[in-house]
Amino acid sequence: MHKVLVTGGAGFLGSHLCDALIARGADVLCVDNFFTGTKDNVAHLRERPRFELLRHDVTFPLYVEVDRIFNLACPASPIHYQRDPVQTTKTSVHGAINMLGLAKRTRARILQASTSEVYGDPEVHPQPEAYWGRVNPIGPRSCYDEGKRCAETLFFDYHRQHRLEIKVVRIFNTYGPRMHVDDGRVVSNFIVQALRGADLTIYGDGRQTRSFCYVDDLVDALLRMMDTGPDFTGPVNVGNPGEFSMLELAELVLKLVGGKSRLKHLPAPEDDPRQRKPDIALAQAKLGWAPKVALADGLKETIAYFRRALAA
Ligand SMILES: NC(=O)c1ccc[n+]([C@@H]2O[C@H](COP(=O)([O-])OP(=O)(O)OC[C@H]3O[C@@H](n4cnc5c(N)ncnc54)[C@H](O)[C@@H]3O)[C@@H](O)[C@H]2O)c1
Repeated sequence: MHKVLVTGGAGFLGSHLCDALIARGADVLCVDNFFTGTKDNVAHLRERPRFELLRHDVTFPLYVEVDRIFNLACPASPIHYQRDPVQTTKTSVHGAINMLGLAKRTRARILQASTSEVYGDPEVHPQPEAYWGRVNPIGPRSCYDEGKRCAETLFFDYHRQHRLEIKVVRIFNTYGPRMHVDDGRVVSNFIVQALRGADLTIYGDGRQTRSFCYVDDLVDALLRMMDTGPDFTGPVNVGNPGEFSMLELAELVLKLVGGKSRLKHLPAPEDDPRQRKPDIALAQAKLGWAPKVALADGLKETIAYFRRALAA
């Protein structure tokens, strides 16, 4: 049985990962500074004897005994990570150094939740892991994109220099229950707007595409990645390759929620990528993984969650 540290464990993805680890019988230490995560996300686990919650900021060192580390701490939505961009870079970079230092001391296997944002505004579609990306180093998204790129560099340097067992997963847009109501990303925006009877905001012409992975599929991939042999480090893309334009997504949400909302167009934000779609051939080959949950099914679960959250 593993002693597993999940940083950012009270966040959207982290809390689902804690659920899955507890269900597998692991001993879970959930660490979070509650910047975007909440105790509510893991409240149902508090009585479980194998679950522990610790308030801690990963930009400071942590001394605990574990043998697996999932490093998820970092705000993921632009609204949140741009609120304090210096702290965002610190969380990615100092957080990675501190968690890698912990892994080095305990000889734990460590997984980094990286992101498709390391590809920036890509010239290659879909993006394979070998593509180096096209990232603006000085824009408003750079604190996140470059922080995550530097974290990947640190992971590979610790691997080469200290022979650490590392796993790097590049996560593409993921959605599901426990996303923030004010998260600002498109799935939650559309659902919350539709549930409130407000118009759905489309940035730009709405023809930019995104792929959407349901959280259960993502967690399954993280667990499979952690279980791969020591020779497989990644980076590996994880996401759902189904590509949808913002207009298609808006129409699907409106159909599932019902109501009288319409579409409202606003200017596209700076550095907004036109297209984003994972090439998951490597994940399929190395993890035996592919997403299973169809967008309409995942949206139904997510809509049900937001309905409850808005009514509370
Ligand atoms: N959700 C996605 O679509 C997506 C896509 C790509 C990558 N990711 C990555 O997955 C991870 C989890 O994302 P999420 O969607 O669950 O976001 P989230 O904001 O819900 O979760 C992040 C968690 O990290 C915590 N945190 C932030 N800074 C911290 C710090 N300094 N110390 C300790 N805890 C801190 C937050 O309080 C929160 O609980 C992030 O690293 C993110 O970059 C997510």
